[in-house]
Amino acid sequence: MKDTLLKIKSEALAALAAENADIETLRIKYLGKKGELTAVLRGMGKLTPEERPVIGQLANDVRAEIEAEIEKMSASAKTAALEAKLKAEKLDVTVPGTKIPMGKCHPLALVQRQLEEIFLGMGYSIAEGPEVEYDYYNFQALNIPKDHPARDTQDTFYITENILLRSQTSPVQARVMENTQPPIKIISPGRVYRSDAVDATHSPLFHQCEGLVVDKGITMGDLKGTLEMFAKTMFGEDTRIRFRPHHFPFTEPSAEVDVSCFACGGKGCRLCKGEGWIEILGAGMVHPNVLRMCNIDPEVYSGFAFGLGVERIVMLKYHIDDMRHLYENDIRFLHQF
Ligand code: DAH
Repeated sequence: MKDTLLKIKSEALAALAAENADIETLRIKYLGKKGELTAVLRGMGKLTPEERPVIGQLANDVRAEIEAEIEKMSASAKTAALEAKLKAEKLDVTVPGTKIPMGKCHPLALVQRQLEEIFLGMGYSIAEGPEVEYDYYNFQALNIPKDHPARDTQDTFYITENILLRSQTSPVQARVMENTQPPIKIISPGRVYRSDAVDATHSPLFHQCEGLVVDKGITMGDLKGTLEMFAKTMFGEDTRIRFRPHHFPFTEPSAEVDVSCFACGGKGCRLCKGEGWIEILGAGMVHPNVLRMCNIDPEVYSGFAFGLGVERIVMLKYHIDDMRHLYENDIRFLHQF
């Protein structure tokens, strides 16, 4: 029995010392309830009274030694595991961080927001209309019948003979007036389309912002005051505006409106091509025919309207010399705003 115990001890210690020893399995094998050492102790009954304490002592010693070795092994395994973990999770706080790319507002959206803010501040609301529009709203309701020459400058994309991609935001005027009795005070920013070839100042898709005010006693003075306020907020306090007579079928009288060049203050420079003035929009008093077609009585009400090109404002404000930059989504360009 003594030999068996010593054999168990040397085997157990050897197994524990082996590389990749599975400590838990070995513990069960040698010390467990069904383990080898327990089996030997069960046979103690067969020993003589003299032998019993001697073998008992030896068995206890063997158990203690194996236990101590197991203890030692599992402690060092734990330390090794912790060390490996710490090594794997090592954090170098001096390494520069990874940049999280931040999006920016597109210059067109930026200016559209500014426009909205300026007019919301003056008590306007924002109206929207469809980009796929009826010929009726895009032209006819704006006093531009089928054969009118004004259609030539606004050639657009036709879906059917009577449905097209709107060539201007002005149809929103007609839609709003049809559904609302005055007072009306709206702006309507949005996309418009024309069958133009792409170049530095043209694109088949661009943006406009329409404005419309209809009420009793609205005059050209209101239009001037409103646009002056707008120009000063958008381009700077010193900005002046100038009206030049023009013709639009849906306004009478009509005007093209210029702002004093905010680059040179009106002296003449490259931006204003030596003129001192820059054209920014079309405007006028809503034509009585247009009011009448929208069921508003021109004997009682009058109104003004204006329409501006958002791209043009963006390009002027930020000195952009080619409209295509606005659509090409080159990050190097877009990051400058
Ligand atoms: N819709 C016109 C255009 O695209 C711009 C315009 C001019 C709008 C005069 C108006 C206006 O509301 O009154 O050229």
